[in-house]
Amino acid sequence: MSTDKIAPGKGTGGTVSYGSDGHRGRITIPVLHRMKRDERRIVSVTAYDYTFARLLDESGVDLILVGDSLGMVVQGHDTTLPVTLDEMIYHARCVSRGVDRAMVVCDLPFGAFQGGPQQALQSAVRVLKESGAQAVKIEGGRIMAETIEHLVARDIPVVAHVGLTPQSVHAFGGFKVQGRGEAGDKVMEDARIAAESGACLLVLEGMPSELAARITESITIPTIGIGAGAGCDGQVLVLYDLLGLYGEVQPRFVKRYLDGAEGIRQALTDYATEVRSGVFPAPEHQFK
Ligand code: KIV
Repeated sequence: MSTDKIAPGKGTGGTVSYGSDGHRGRITIPVLHRMKRDERRIVSVTAYDYTFARLLDESGVDLILVGDSLGMVVQGHDTTLPVTLDEMIYHARCVSRGVDRAMVVCDLPFGAFQGGPQQALQSAVRVLKESGAQAVKIEGGRIMAETIEHLVARDIPVVAHVGLTPQSVHAFGGFKVQGRGEAGDKVMEDARIAAESGACLLVLEGMPSELAARITESITIPTIGIGAGAGCDGQVLVLYDLLGLYGEVQPRFVKRYLDGAEGIRQALTDYATEVRSGVFPAPEHQFK
């Protein structure tokens, strides 16, 4: 993995890493398709704001997903369902401002596309026009085939999402692994139809690893897994899970790369102690 200084001015002034493929330009759909063909794994993380997006971009993340998971990790809801299209556009716009290299994908939230292809088109046009994202993500396979085709025919790149689709939480009776046993045929069918309808990428969430690996081998578009095992073309994690910022419960598929919550609690406790004791602000933090 090569690293170089980024141009000063924008961002943190840190180093930027170009990822495993050494690709320096903007990550586009053809680049991601080439990565699948060359068996180079795609790195994806969610983001919801400028500062984190900047850090992810500088770290060489290939694909930044502005997920409607923001309804849970940013807004504090129990599900993703309350998130609105305006809120998605707002967060995607903040993220896009921080990104020079990664591809940015924005979720269409619950209620913004289930009304049919025309509603989905209006929502997707708003996302691409107002946020700077390069593609929209839609939950669903077979049931969304017509919608995916409608958008793709109008040059709107669509990422499809099958398996444990969080917007279906009530229909599933909870956030439950999908596609076990014979139910695997339905998920396989959803994946195949989404790919044939023209989706450019496919998110595989919450399913047996063996099923996700079979799907990955059987379609030509890249698969990005979350709780779907090592056989996918890439992996995505929710940023706040990866950094150990969100929730007491740690799903099996999450790996925490930082105990962020503990570090932040400690920093805030230190700050409070120093304010109360008069240690902060010190002379060097004050104007003469
Ligand atoms: O909303 C989200 O963050 C997602 C990813 C976890 C795939 O859909």
